[in-house]
Amino acid sequence: MKVKDLKNMIRSSIPLDSGNSAVISESFVAEPKQYNLPTEMQSSGTKDSHFELYQGYIKSFNQVSARLDTADRQNANSNSSDFRSLKIDEIYNMNAAYLHELYFANISDLHSEITMDSLAYMRLSRDFGTFDDWQRDFFACCTASRCGWAMTYYSFWLQRYVNCPIDLHSLNVPFGAYPVIVMDVWQHAYYRDYLKDVRTYTTAMMKELNWSVIENRFKKAEDIAGVLR
Ligand SMILES: [Fe+2]
Repeated sequence: MKVKDLKNMIRSSIPLDSGNSAVISESFVAEPKQYNLPTEMQSSGTKDSHFELYQGYIKSFNQVSARLDTADRQNANSNSSDFRSLKIDEIYNMNAAYLHELYFANISDLHSEITMDSLAYMRLSRDFGTFDDWQRDFFACCTASRCGWAMTYYSFWLQRYVNCPIDLHSLNVPFGAYPVIVMDVWQHAYYRDYLKDVRTYTTAMMKELNWSVIENRFKKAEDIAGVLR
């Protein structure tokens, strides 16, 4: 196809007369979930304010999605445009909500236990050398994150499990990743109880990881990997 034909095709697919009033009807609507965190390693004040923050991210995500319905697409550009700003905010708030759900679900197990015959234990040992090596690497990611997250994920490209730090909610997020273990290391997660001591907070959270929830994520990751292969 010639460039001229391609341009004509793109032009003909854009409703040029619709302007700002074009309704794309693409808005996403998310609902906050409820979590029970029996851990005594976080104060009730931390838990309550954290749930409020999470709900705020969901609210922002819904608002951004609704605004995107009628955002001006014709004037979208890479320097400064409402459309671009909203699309950036969409991912920021979506990641924030999703990461918090993964985090709340995989911490605060007072009877935390991992067995050597579990898929999680075997895969982490296989891909990091030993289970202790995974712990050391994950802990390092927690302390290396600049106000953000640490994550163990299955990489569909590398076909193995990998750890990474994420800054904020959307910087250094790997593509083709299925999260299996997620730790919140924003200051809001620990400052009230641990001041700036992210190491003690992280150690406390890692002692209460919910390996039952995590085991199911490992199984799902490998089911999906099997389908993609
Ligand atoms: Fe958080």
